[in-house]
Amino acid sequence: MEQFVIKGGTSLRGEVEIGGAKNAALAILAASIMTDETVTIDNLPDVRDINVLIGAMEDIGAIVDRVDRHTVKINGSRIQRLSVDYEYIKKIRASYYLLGALLGKYKKAEVALPGGCEIGSRPIDLHIKGFKALGADVDISYGLISAKAVRLEGSHIYMDKVSVGATINVMMAAALAEGKTVIENAAKEPHVVDVANFLNSMGANIRGAGTDVIRIVGVEKLHKTEYSVIPDQIEAGTFMCAAAVTGGDVLIKNVIPKHLEATTAKLLEAGCKVEEYDDAVRVFGGGELKSTQVTTLPYPGFPTDMQPQMTVVLGIAQGTSTVTESIFENRFKYVDELSRMGANIQVEGNIAIIRGVERYTGARVCAPDLRAGAALVVAGLAADGVTVVDDIYYIQRGYENLEGKLRQLGAQIEKVSSEKEIQKFVLKVS
Ligand code: UD1
Repeated sequence: MEQFVIKGGTSLRGEVEIGGAKNAALAILAASIMTDETVTIDNLPDVRDINVLIGAMEDIGAIVDRVDRHTVKINGSRIQRLSVDYEYIKKIRASYYLLGALLGKYKKAEVALPGGCEIGSRPIDLHIKGFKALGADVDISYGLISAKAVRLEGSHIYMDKVSVGATINVMMAAALAEGKTVIENAAKEPHVVDVANFLNSMGANIRGAGTDVIRIVGVEKLHKTEYSVIPDQIEAGTFMCAAAVTGGDVLIKNVIPKHLEATTAKLLEAGCKVEEYDDAVRVFGGGELKSTQVTTLPYPGFPTDMQPQMTVVLGIAQGTSTVTESIFENRFKYVDELSRMGANIQVEGNIAIIRGVERYTGARVCAPDLRAGAALVVAGLAADGVTVVDDIYYIQRGYENLEGKLRQLGAQIEKVSSEKEIQKFVLKVS
């Protein structure tokens, strides 16, 4: 089992390059099989979730050629199976994007039903509602969701809740339906827009992505394209928080500053200085951190995937902050771990009340999920002493070479896999 071991207290300084957005890339990969021609996708992050999805796609017969670490060529002309195993879905829920992609292209798909996960119950009723509205018969039995249709027909779909996954899944299927589909109360996240742009580059006719209403005119078929995935706003935001808590000065390159606005706004309120450039942001964390209030909301609100990292910032800010989690009900599990590092946080329902402490102290903690794991690393960077983060498997699902990028900024962090290596690190840094 690999772990991160961190000696905190170094101000991060320098430049870091952000990779492609994992969540955009997952949907784009799935959508790439919707044509029989070869699609090239660039700026893919080399992270576990992406590699698992590629495995699932190969398993159903897609030909995937890894051109280099961040580029693949995919050909979906020889898909033989329209059924995706539980083996993949249990590792990444996002393999359910293959449902929308396969249903759109072959009018038939079967995907193991995803369960709940570390951050709470994750229903898929809205995905199903959307597929049904397009004319598919959807059945749930034997742990599988099966969807099939003689023909998919455009429809008017109102999403009762803003859902990234349902918006993207339905958008994919509707791209190859007959006639016009309107998705109301659609998610506006940057990756929804990226997937729409990708599909349009393959010949789809999708308008309005990035607004509440997406209009799709179905086309008969899609064609080849070459596409580069947008930068990862959550990876970028994580480095912004790391700069903030360590009193650092970090230039975060290859980002779209507009996508980071909610994180930027909260860091400014917390007393940091943030400069925006065309494709970079620079975060200065030198001053005293101040308390503020944060509520997670669908984009352009504050992203739930940045909630744990921002809580770590506020945990050492002067005064009392609140963080309200309005998207997922069980996303404060990491608070117990953070308390072991000296944080003073009380969770009442979906609100964390954070009384800022002067500093974190190094401890042995477990990453409970992807973003919370990254947040514990961020806390470790600011902590007095040595922190060991266990279960970094979760972190590796979504961050490429996190430790290497942090080291480049001056952090003392190593990936280790034994007590002996931890001791060696401790000796080295003490
Ligand atoms: C995506 C992201 C995840 C992020 C989340 C919210 C991917 C692979 N994952 O997850 O990192 O935290 O968006 O920004 O892109 N809901 C329903 N019924 C449904 C679908 C969703 O009630 O059919 C609810 C969920 O329980 C949740 C809310 O809608 O409360 C938002 O979920 P959703 O946007 O769908 O999240 P995901 O797409 O699963």
